[in-house]
Amino acid sequence: MSSNSPERAADTGHDTFLDQTLRPSSWDDYIGQESIKNNLHILITAAKERQHPPEHILFYGPPGLGKTTLAHLIARELGGTMRSTSGPAIERVGDLAALLTNLQPGDVLFIDEIHRLSRTIEEVLYPAMESGILNIIIGKGPSARTIELPLPPFTLIAATTRIADLSAPLRSRFSGGVFRLEFYSEDDITNIVRRSAAILGVEVEETGVREIAKRSRSTPRTANYLLKRARDFAQLKRVPLSKGIVESALGLLEVDELGLTPLDRALLLALIDRFHGGPVGVSALGAALAEEPNTLSEVHEPFLLQLGLIERTQRGRVATKKAYEHLGKKPPEDLNERLL
Ligand SMILES: Nc1ncnc2c1ncn2[C@@H]1O[C@H](COP(=O)(O)OP(=O)(O)OP(=O)(O)O)[C@@H](O)[C@H]1O
Ligand SMILES: [Mg+2]
Repeated sequence: MSSNSPERAADTGHDTFLDQTLRPSSWDDYIGQESIKNNLHILITAAKERQHPPEHILFYGPPGLGKTTLAHLIARELGGTMRSTSGPAIERVGDLAALLTNLQPGDVLFIDEIHRLSRTIEEVLYPAMESGILNIIIGKGPSARTIELPLPPFTLIAATTRIADLSAPLRSRFSGGVFRLEFYSEDDITNIVRRSAAILGVEVEETGVREIAKRSRSTPRTANYLLKRARDFAQLKRVPLSKGIVESALGLLEVDELGLTPLDRALLLALIDRFHGGPVGVSALGAALAEEPNTLSEVHEPFLLQLGLIERTQRGRVATKKAYEHLGKKPPEDLNERLL
């Protein structure tokens, strides 16, 4: 991936600050994902009526679609504090115990990257999620004993980009709901770009807004990133943010008209030229591109699948006719057989 791609954008302190400014702080500002919002509304309203925290919730889907933002919105709605941590940060049982015993009634515990929790920690989490009890083992060997600590009522909200890596028992304990975030429609992304431009005080011509939206990988985080980079470009050129300026700015970032980054295109090229269009496994692709297979399967493939540029078959990934055409190449005669 090139160093200026949205996923690895050099994170200056100022950009982080802007990202917090752009994060929706009310349900009305959270654009799209209507089905999830409706379900959450029912879950939260009913729980409030019963004066009990909602049951545990899991969000999954590709990066930048708004999982963490939803967790913040829920915590705010419940009026409690949100304690944030992540799977890899909880190394020992004691880390989890400290987090859980410090919760106040009605707090939200947010665990990002929950697929990276160790099995030992998971085992401690189960009874905490199910019956609000923390089992702690004291001592070692034959004299070891377990004490049960009751926990205050709380809601666990977890997020992951890799739902397949979650164990079935853990998944089944999210009794409030397991929600998959979808890629956004172009209209929704357009509204997000418009809203962000207004917050940043940037004047963008409507055609410019549309062009940014079109190249945003149907992803709000990318939309905000492209908007900020196009704004920088227009500012230095001392010109308004028109469609033409967006095209030049995003051209410099090597983000093409479908929103593909250099690594997306390298992936398609490797698939077509080195593996004759596939089918090929993700580890072989990773080796060919000197990239982590996980980055390919979590960040790049979901969008390429969404665009219909690749397909997943039993035997691996296959380039579609659209991929050949996008790269200006001729599809092979037996393409349809490969897609079986
Ligand atoms: N529905 C939305 N409406 C408006 N802006 C959004 C929406 N969803 C996300 N955003 C913007 O995109 C940014 C990224 O969202 P968020 O951090 O919630 O993604 P995520 O799914 O948690 O990503 P990751 O998997 O990388 O943690 C937010 O800071 C926010 O500005
Ligand atoms: Mg997140």
